[in-house]
Amino acid sequence: MPRSATVKNLRPQPQFPLDTHPEVSLDFDRVKKHLAKHGYKKPVLLIDLDIVRAKTKRFRAALPRVRPHFAVKANPDPRVLKVLIQEGSGFEIASIAELDLLLSLGVPVAEIFYSNPMKSRAYLEYAAAKGVEWYVVDCVEEVVKVKSVKADAKMYLRIDAPNIGSDWPLAGKFGAHMNDVPEIILAAAACQADLAGVTFHVGSQCLNPENWRVGMERARKVFASMRTAGLKPRLLNLGGGYPVRHVKPMPSIETIADLINRELRHFGPEIQIIAEPGRYLVSDAGYFICRVVGTATRNDQRWMYWDAGVFGGVIETTEGLRYNIYTDRDGEPVAWNVAGPTCDSVDVVMRDELLPGDLQEGDFIFIKNAGAYTTAYASNFNGFPLPDVATIGS
Ligand SMILES: Cc1ncc(COP(=O)(O)O)c(C=O)c1O
Repeated sequence: MPRSATVKNLRPQPQFPLDTHPEVSLDFDRVKKHLAKHGYKKPVLLIDLDIVRAKTKRFRAALPRVRPHFAVKANPDPRVLKVLIQEGSGFEIASIAELDLLLSLGVPVAEIFYSNPMKSRAYLEYAAAKGVEWYVVDCVEEVVKVKSVKADAKMYLRIDAPNIGSDWPLAGKFGAHMNDVPEIILAAAACQADLAGVTFHVGSQCLNPENWRVGMERARKVFASMRTAGLKPRLLNLGGGYPVRHVKPMPSIETIADLINRELRHFGPEIQIIAEPGRYLVSDAGYFICRVVGTATRNDQRWMYWDAGVFGGVIETTEGLRYNIYTDRDGEPVAWNVAGPTCDSVDVVMRDELLPGDLQEGDFIFIKNAGAYTTAYASNFNGFPLPDVATIGS
């Protein structure tokens, strides 16, 4: 096919507003010093708590009307959670284990939002008994289920929002389509459920602020329909998605905040505004350190096996996210297939990743800005140990 024909068939790529606002990450020298001092036993995530603190302050400064409710799933380490508590964050939970963790740290139950759209009846009963007030719903069945367990539950409706330009899309599995919203509102009104809010998720690591604008525009429409049905909207939850810097350019939190703050003028003071940042508050604070177990050449292709792969915490690469990766080698870069240590063929971290050609058994791998969705994902699959989490700062 002639080259021009190929080009003509390509769909235009969306243009996102990007900026070069300075981002602060855990200092690499401190990572090396920590390793030299403490040695290496198994994969470890090193977290600088001062950066978690600074990121939370920065989020709050950029979005003064929005109270962050940290998505515990991004990094449930208690030392991280304690810093977030001190910085005035609330929390969103996916399960009752996360609820118990927060309660054990003294978080007031009123600051915990149950944002998993599909909750078992047993989990709902447990959360209700502990006093959780707010529950997400995104379908008629869940409205009825929540109402039947806790008659006075306050509910917020998760609606579908565009995930264009998000490195880890979340659309499809959850979020009521706008066509389905009227039926959900009618069902809530009919059973006298206190459906009082709207939320959406623009997709994780979202590089396209326009997604928030569309979500907020849809929320306004849903609020209008709720009022018509006699419901009393009081909560707008802007969800997660705020990105951190890896290899691609990204909009800073201030750029995203410009848009959100402008749109927030359409929401009156009776509406409480929260958001659920996960990645943004913790990613830059962490370096994930693992080690090369061995290398091989298979059919002219170089393979490298790490002691932590898809099941050991390095999973986000499977959806295309790319980290900045450092090593102590400086050989000419070659295309490596990188895999984890398990016997499972799914355990391939990256294919054709350019890394120094002289990497070999025993070398350390340093993955930058890996404080979110790494250790939180890890399992003992194939008998490999969970990674450690170590902290510096306070
Ligand atoms: C309901 C909910 N809220 C918030 C988040 C956090 O998203 P992020 O880490 O992209 O900010 C997630 C992530 O999956 C989520 O499922």
